[in-house]
Amino acid sequence: MTAPAKILVVFGTRPEAIKLFPVVAALQDDPRFVPIVCVSAQHRQMLDQVLAIAGIVPDHDLDLMRPDQTLDGLTAALLTELGRVMDAEQPDRVMVQGDTATAMAGALAAYYRKIPVDHVEAGLRSGNIYHPWPEEVNRKIIGSIASLHFAPTEVSEAALLAENVPADRVLVTGNTVIDALEWVTMQIELFPELASGLFDLEERFAGKRIIGVTSHRRENFGGGMESIAEAIRQIAARPDVAVIFPVHLNPNVRRVMNAALEGLDNVALIEPLDYPHFARLLSIAEIMLTDSGGVQEEAPALGKPVLVMRETTERPEGVSAGTARLVGTETNRIVTEIFTLLDDKDAYENMARAHNPFGDGTSARRIVERLGNEIGR
Ligand code: UD1
Ligand code: UDP
Repeated sequence: MTAPAKILVVFGTRPEAIKLFPVVAALQDDPRFVPIVCVSAQHRQMLDQVLAIAGIVPDHDLDLMRPDQTLDGLTAALLTELGRVMDAEQPDRVMVQGDTATAMAGALAAYYRKIPVDHVEAGLRSGNIYHPWPEEVNRKIIGSIASLHFAPTEVSEAALLAENVPADRVLVTGNTVIDALEWVTMQIELFPELASGLFDLEERFAGKRIIGVTSHRRENFGGGMESIAEAIRQIAARPDVAVIFPVHLNPNVRRVMNAALEGLDNVALIEPLDYPHFARLLSIAEIMLTDSGGVQEEAPALGKPVLVMRETTERPEGVSAGTARLVGTETNRIVTEIFTLLDDKDAYENMARAHNPFGDGTSARRIVERLGNEIGR
């Protein structure tokens, strides 16, 4: 019998962990593979929240996060340390997800060793290397290295084909975030206490219309964050509204949001939520206001209108489906768009329809099947 293929699965941040735990589980269930999990811990607490819920114990934990880390300092450490793990493990293939520094350095370290790279969530492109920054370039680097490109949608497949990636190296799989969301939703149904930490807030804001907010994009640091904070302040001045805002641990986000919003009656600035609690927030919110990538994929699946605080998006599928709208970071525009959704029932109903342009919850299985063909087993 041939030995199972050793797949080194590399990730470091909250969204990568959410989007890869279904793939790790599918690899673990398949005797053709031995997954080895290496976390860079580019995020610490926010990564650990996902590892705990998903029950993943990493084989390697590089513990690389530093307070307010720089892109070059982080990338240099990632490249060296991930390379060391690859030399020790000698994997058959390396899997990365998305467009973080960890994913890019993981792909590059594998390439330096001529180890084939599998890219989950391949082919997202905004066409602007500064929006989102530095993710657009990270994913283009990974795209030029990858052996197999798992594209979530036909839009991302088309972007790869336009860059001359051979068609037989691309597979449309849906986004694994839908697998993760379905799993966590089922867990909450079975064990409601998993999301019970939000119940106090729900009581405090009973009768109010909940707006869920997240924000962390590097290109919005400074002026963009201040203008987002001011928009939230104006929105929360309405007595019928409550804002629930789990604040990202990046100090560049917290400094601005705490200074502008702490102590307001209708605003709950809270610590990052673990995934079941965030899924609960998605289900009780009337509107999501975000600059996150993952939230743009989850909200349409749940029929929640999502206003995206960005100039461009590499996820046009939600906009085409009508559940997402780009609103930029300018205060007046954000406030106007939120008020329209709150006050115009038709405008709200037009956006609040469940669509699933990002997958049907079977992405991990499709990825693992394709990998099985690739290794010839
Ligand atoms: C990173 C990714 C971004 C992704 C985002 C998801 C890069 C360059 N950026 O951005 O693509 O969308 O994660 O959230 O890869 N921090 C903590 N604890 C944590 C996490 C972060 O304290 O658990 C603080 C630290 O001070 C850290 C800082 O946040 O230095 C920035 O973390 P970093 O991963 O560099 O950037 P993000 O903005 O989180
Ligand atoms: N999320 C979470 N807790 C929070 C905020 C977000 O679990 O307090 C989840 C969310 O459901 C989504 C992912 O984190 O799956 C998005 O992560 P983030 O916005 O940090 O990164 P991005 O998707 O923009 O890269």
